[in-house]
Amino acid sequence: MSDRLIQLREDFDRELSAVATDADATALRDRWVGRKSGVVTAEMKTLGSFSPEERKVAGARLNEFKSYVEAAIEKLQADFAARREAEQLAKERIDVTLPGRRPPAGHLHPITLLRQKVEDIFVSMGYTIEDGPEIETNFYNFAALNIPDNHPARSPQDTFYLRGEGDNTLALRSQTSTVQIHAMQRRTPPLRVIAPGRVFRRDTPDATHNPMFYQVEGLLVDRHVTLGDLKGTVEEFVRRLFGPETQTRFRPSYFPFVEPGAEIDYTCFKCGGTGCRVCKGSGWIEMGGSGMVHPNVLRVVGIDPDEYSGFAFGLGLDRLCALMYGLDDIRLLYENDVRFLEQFK
Ligand code: PHE
Repeated sequence: MSDRLIQLREDFDRELSAVATDADATALRDRWVGRKSGVVTAEMKTLGSFSPEERKVAGARLNEFKSYVEAAIEKLQADFAARREAEQLAKERIDVTLPGRRPPAGHLHPITLLRQKVEDIFVSMGYTIEDGPEIETNFYNFAALNIPDNHPARSPQDTFYLRGEGDNTLALRSQTSTVQIHAMQRRTPPLRVIAPGRVFRRDTPDATHNPMFYQVEGLLVDRHVTLGDLKGTVEEFVRRLFGPETQTRFRPSYFPFVEPGAEIDYTCFKCGGTGCRVCKGSGWIEMGGSGMVHPNVLRVVGIDPDEYSGFAFGLGLDRLCALMYGLDDIRLLYENDVRFLEQFK
C-alpha cells in the first residue's frame, strides 16, 4: 500500500504540474477525487479486502493523500482565479492622471473675426446692428435708394435677377445700402445702425473679385448731422481698428443715395503712409463709399429732410480682410480649404 501510495502521489504530482488551465484543474479534480470514478475513491473501495489493522493504517494514509490532492487542486484553482482577476483589473484599469482628450475645436472664419471687430467698435460708439434680406424688390434695391431707372446697376449684367415683373422683380442685393431703408422704416430718428452682410454682383471671379462678398453699412440720422460728423466717425473707426496714428481723406465721388458723396481712404496700416506693397506705394488704402444721406432717400421713408440729416458709409470686408492678413487672392476666403482656414485659429 505504501509503495502504491508513493506511486499514486508521483502520478498525481506529474499531472498536477502539467495543468495549464482552469478546465485542466477541474478535470484533474474529477479524475482524482471525483465522487464516482475518482482514483482515490476507487482506492478507498479496495480497503475492504484489508485486515482491520491494515485497513486502519492504510485508510489513514489514503485520507491524508486525499486531503493532499484536494488542497493542491484548491490552491491551483485559487491561483487561476487570482490571475484571472489580476488580468481583468489590468485590462479595465483607468489612468486618471492621463490628460483628457480634447474634441477637435473649430474656430471662426477670418471674415467673421473681422466682422466682429468692426461690430465691436461701432457698438462701443452707440450703434446697433441691423439685418436685412439678401433678396430684395426693386424698391429696396434701387428706387428707394434714389437710383434712376437707367442706372447701370439695374442692368441684368451687373445684378442677379431672380424673378418677377416690374416693381415686384426680385434680385440679390448688390450692396448693403438696402438696409438703410429697412432701418429707417423700422426705427425713427435719431438712429445709428451698422448692417454687415453678404452682397452679390455679377463679377467674373479673379484675385480681387468674387460674385458674393461682404459689406458693412453704416447709417446715422439725427438733427444737425454734418459731413464733419461723418469724417470724425470714420476716422475714429480706423484709429480703433489700425491704431491712433491712422488718418483719413475724402475724395469726392458719386452715389445716387448720398449728396455730397465721397470715397474714404485711410493711411496704410502697414507703412503708415510712406508707401509699401500693401498700399501699392501710394500710402493710402481705399475703405469704401460714404456721403450725406440724399433728401430723396429720407423722404421715401417719411423723414423730413428739413428737420433731419444723416450720413452713410459702406465698406468691403473681404478686401480689408485680404489686406490685413496679406492674402494674395480673396477667393481663398471661400474655398473652404482647411489648410488655409486653420491658420486663423
Ligand atoms: N453702397 C456703396 C457701394 O457698395 C457704398 C456706399 C455706402 C456709398 C453708403 C455711400 C453711402 O459701393
